[in-house]
Formats: sequence, C-alpha cells, structure tokens
Amino acid sequence: MKSLEDIKLRAQKDISAAKDAQQLFNVEKKYLGRKGELTLVLKQVKDLSAEEKRTMGKQANELQKELEQLLSVQRRVLAEGSGAAADLSLPALKQEKGSVHPLMAMQQRIEDIFLQMGYEILYGPEIEKAKYNFDLLNIPEKHPSRDVWDTFYVSAPAPSGSGGQGAAKKSGPETPLLRTHISPMQIRVMEERKPPIRFISPGRVFRHEATDATHEANYFYNEGLVIEKGISFGDMLGTLDVFFKALFGDDVETRAQPSFFPFVEPGAEVLMKGSKGWMEMLGCGMVHPKVLKNMGVDPKEYSGFAFGMGIDRLMMYYNDVRDIRSSYQGDLRFLKQF
Ligand code: PHE
Repeated sequence: MKSLEDIKLRAQKDISAAKDAQQLFNVEKKYLGRKGELTLVLKQVKDLSAEEKRTMGKQANELQKELEQLLSVQRRVLAEGSGAAADLSLPALKQEKGSVHPLMAMQQRIEDIFLQMGYEILYGPEIEKAKYNFDLLNIPEKHPSRDVWDTFYVSAPAPSGSGGQGAAKKSGPETPLLRTHISPMQIRVMEERKPPIRFISPGRVFRHEATDATHEANYFYNEGLVIEKGISFGDMLGTLDVFFKALFGDDVETRAQPSFFPFVEPGAEVLMKGSKGWMEMLGCGMVHPKVLKNMGVDPKEYSGFAFGMGIDRLMMYYNDVRDIRSSYQGDLRFLKQF
C-alpha cells in the first residue's frame, strides 16, 4: 500500500502545478479517479486489521477531503486567471496584516543588544525540574524563600529524564513544575559547558500569583550569566548600564541597591531613571560560590554575575503600557497600536 504521506506530497505538488482545467482534471483522475492512487488505498482499507482500519481509514478519508478542497481552490484560481469567473461586483478581500507582538519586539531588542556585546542566546524548557528551579540554585526544599517563587506543579514528565508521571507532587528534586524564573538555565547550561561563558536566555515564566495591573501568572523574562576569570561586581553594573542606555537612550541613569536572592552574593536590584523617574528594573548579583560549585566551577578560580529582568516590565516602560494583562488578552485594539 502506498504511503499516504507520499501521495499527499505528490498530489499537492501536481495540483499547484496544473496550468489549466484539463491538466487539473488529469491530476484529479490520477489520485481520486476510479483507479486513482488514493481511491485504491481507500479500497484496500477494508482488508486491514480493525486497529489499522480505524487509523488508516481516518487518515485516508481526511486526505481525500483535503485534496478535494485543494482541487476546488486551484479550479477557482485557474478560472479567475482566465477571467471567466471573476465577479467584479464583489467587495475586495481585505488583507489583514499581522504585526510583531510588543513583547516579542522587546525580546528581539534585548537579544540584539546582548548579541552585540558578545553574548550567546540559549533557550530553555518551560517545564522545569525542581532541582534546577530551586535546589541547585541554593533554595533548599522547606526553605521559606521558595515561597517567593511558588509555582504550578504539573503531572507531565519534565524534559529529558525521570520526572514523575501521574498526580502532581510537590516535593523531591525531580518534581516537574512550571519554571518561575530562568535562573535554572545557569545550572543547565553549565552542566554542558565550561567557563568562560556569556549568555542570555529569554522566555516564558510562570508564577502562582493573583493577577492585577502589575502581576501576571505567566510572563516573559530574560536571564543572563557571565562566568570568567576576574569578573567583578563593577563589570556587572557596567554591563547593565550599557544595556539600559542601548535600550532607552544615552541619557538614562542606573543605580544599584542591595537585595537578596539565594543564588547570588552579594545581590542587588538595578534601578533606572528615565523619563518617568527611578524604577526598579531587575535583580542581579555575583553568582553564589555554592551555585558555582553546583555548576562544577571552582569558585577560587572563577567568578561571575547573573541577572534577571522582566521583559513585560521593560516593554511596559518602553511603550507606556499600564496593565501587564493587556499583553495576554489578544485584544486587537491593544495590538494594533504597535
Ligand atoms: N531569578 C530572580 C527573580 O526571578 C532574578 C535574578 C536573576 C536575581 C539572577 C539575581 C540573579 O527574581
């Protein structure tokens, strides 16, 4: 029996290559005629086992419908080309143009800036294991700081490995969950790589949050990690200052204030002063020696910094958007402004 996939590919090609009604008729005959290729397959279905009959029969029927549709579209195209069927009294079809979502536009700006600074861009999984989201980032189970990153626990297996299946469970390093930040990529990447390293990792994160104008249960985030010999806190502040100036213009100012994240020491928050005054923009810090060890990196030899920024917040500042939820409602009145 001929493979449906093969019939489909050839039929699609033949249909779109048909140049007139006669050629199209021949193509129809070739696949759907009395002795057509697909007709023969459909005839053979009855000899298959019950199981195969069900799947194969369904697929063959679907393909038949699809080819009939393609044939009718091509028939119209050919007829219109010859002028025969064109009805000039009909209103023109309006071409709706899509646009890049403002969040994705912001992600692309961020990627461009860091690419120019020599960073790689590496993407990670949205379903993460507890050990990457928490344990290896120096956030032990039962430690109260886990509450800050409370998340949704899923019952699907986590990527590449032995994640639990069945009911969502909330403990153990292999527990699959929706990642609450992209700091897990610090560990994931360093399991595969050796320093020096310099990368960012943008993507979607999830938090167990009640939503309001500034909180969402799902949003976008960009993590960065640099590990090299002799990297200092000053390198981090300089890098982030260059980043904010590249994004918002040379006249913005940045400053840092102390903050706490279990995976950095010291930790800081960077604030930016633009047209709307000072605003907290991101969390950052020098990678904690324990976390360096978890990466297999010797803290006596190497140091590094990490930072994490909400892409939504940057986008909102950039575009003067007031409600974080606007990005996720698919409302054209919002989207058409960008
Ligand atoms: N992961 C932190 C957060 O989600 C941000 C952060 C990243 C802080 C890297 C320090 C270093 O809030």
